[in-house]
Amino acid sequence: MNIYKEVSSAVISKLQEIPELKNVLTPEILKNATVEIPKVRDFGDFSTNIAMLLTKSLGQKPRDIAEIMVPYLKQIPNIDQVSIAGPGFINLKLKDEYIKKIALSDKLTPETPNPQKIDLDYGGYNVGKTLHIGHLRTTVVGDTFNRIAQFLGHKTKSYNHMGDWGRPMGLIIAWILENGMPKNVDDINKMYPASSARAKEDPAWLEQAQKITVGLQNGDKEYKQIYDAFIPMSLEQVNNLLKRLNILTFDENKGERLIAEYVPTVQKILDEKGIIEHSDGAEIISVKQDTDTEPMPPVMWRSSAGAQTYAAADLTAIYYREKTDNPNAIVYFTDNRQTLHFKQIFRAARMVGFAQDIELQHIGFGTITGADGKPFKTRDGNVPSLDEMLNIVADSVRTRVTESGKKLSDETIEMIALASLKFNDLMHDVKSDYIFDVESVTNFEGRTGPYILYTAVRLNSILNKVGDTSMDAACQLLPEERDLLMFLLDFNRVTETAFEKRAPYILANYTYDLCKLINTFYHTCPIMRDDISPEIKSQRLAIVKQSLNVLSKSIELMGLKIPEEM
Ligand code: ARG
Repeated sequence: MNIYKEVSSAVISKLQEIPELKNVLTPEILKNATVEIPKVRDFGDFSTNIAMLLTKSLGQKPRDIAEIMVPYLKQIPNIDQVSIAGPGFINLKLKDEYIKKIALSDKLTPETPNPQKIDLDYGGYNVGKTLHIGHLRTTVVGDTFNRIAQFLGHKTKSYNHMGDWGRPMGLIIAWILENGMPKNVDDINKMYPASSARAKEDPAWLEQAQKITVGLQNGDKEYKQIYDAFIPMSLEQVNNLLKRLNILTFDENKGERLIAEYVPTVQKILDEKGIIEHSDGAEIISVKQDTDTEPMPPVMWRSSAGAQTYAAADLTAIYYREKTDNPNAIVYFTDNRQTLHFKQIFRAARMVGFAQDIELQHIGFGTITGADGKPFKTRDGNVPSLDEMLNIVADSVRTRVTESGKKLSDETIEMIALASLKFNDLMHDVKSDYIFDVESVTNFEGRTGPYILYTAVRLNSILNKVGDTSMDAACQLLPEERDLLMFLLDFNRVTETAFEKRAPYILANYTYDLCKLINTFYHTCPIMRDDISPEIKSQRLAIVKQSLNVLSKSIELMGLKIPEEM
């Protein structure tokens, strides 16, 4: 249940009953009126600015207007107190009984009256290249966003728009032609870097790779055979890692190659509309507008070598997704170096007449840096693969655990490492850069994955100890209990906001704040101590249980796993 929406609409409809306000509560005013959850809840659970918005139309002081409203607002069922604060804010406090009732029975089933269809584009791995730190954010944030959207009842389709049809393929096939098929993961990982390094020094090699790329795209049998044998090996490697990262399976691994099938169709549409221009042997689409203040280069539709381009695949993918899914939105998660690319593609799509009713949205990420502010590298100066990243984090977790004298299984260490890496990624606003420091992400205290898991493990262990007892909340609430219950009730609003703003960090930070409140409650409200009456114990256990429900759900939405012990 979204208590926030509940209270907001109760306030609005109550105000409409007030005769003095009949003519002034315009839709405009109501739109600007906010019901907010104050940071400090000492004076109320919600506060509203509505009285301040009416000063002009009523010609009265906001406090006086608030005085008119208070007696009415007091009539709202389940409201305990209504008070005026500062220049004319109105604070509302809910009845404890009501909070207990709704918080403890909340099944966390969101109300989404208008579920949307959303295509998500994240991952976008390049075949033949190991997944590295640069893929962390698109993978983790994309996956969590997908989980949040599904939880809310939206219908998502996740696309792994693989880089499997461009120049890297030419480079890899050239390498295989000379050195034979790769035999293991190490071979796979070496081929592309070796071949592309050679292309930088050897123009003939580069030219050869380009020819192969065009040949492959035009149906060359030998190249296609090598390609078909190689792709599954590479995909398997990607999938193993995604499994290790606990990422949902992609609905479509439809990359540049599969979309290539539709390029001729889009080419025809572009030709009919006369949108293509020729420039130095290449085919381009000009997307510049008079109002542009920044450079807006044309979209490269076909390269001068005749190859399908990155841009052509993306423009065609929009055509394809509109035809097959007709979603309300297509949301792309990539790093922000692709911001211009997507601006160009979205413009081109609109020009051609694609996706007229589809929201096209690119969420661009910042960079993960070291303490020096430069892109994060390992000690030996390499860009770490995602596997290596997880290993580095797992080693740090293991050291901590050993130092504290605990013994945890490898499986548990892996779960803690996963939470360390993913939570740290999720809690940062995607747009900004962040510093990756392995010591701080694996800390068991503070805004970290281990702290989140530890809190869940603690709740689990309390409930395991009591077994299947009846839980009933019949006692007065202490402030720590009340604060926690109110916060639990905020879960649905938080997931909705994270979805609307395309911002999983809102959920991650909510989860951290929730854990803080849970731990405060745990420390101030003893449960198992002998001097605690059965009634109080029962109530506190009920609070523990619901806290665990909400916390587990948040953890699941972030794609983390709760270990049995920590
Ligand atoms: N393969 C691309 C890269 O590594 C990312 C793909 C992102 N998605 C897309 N539709 N372009 O840069």
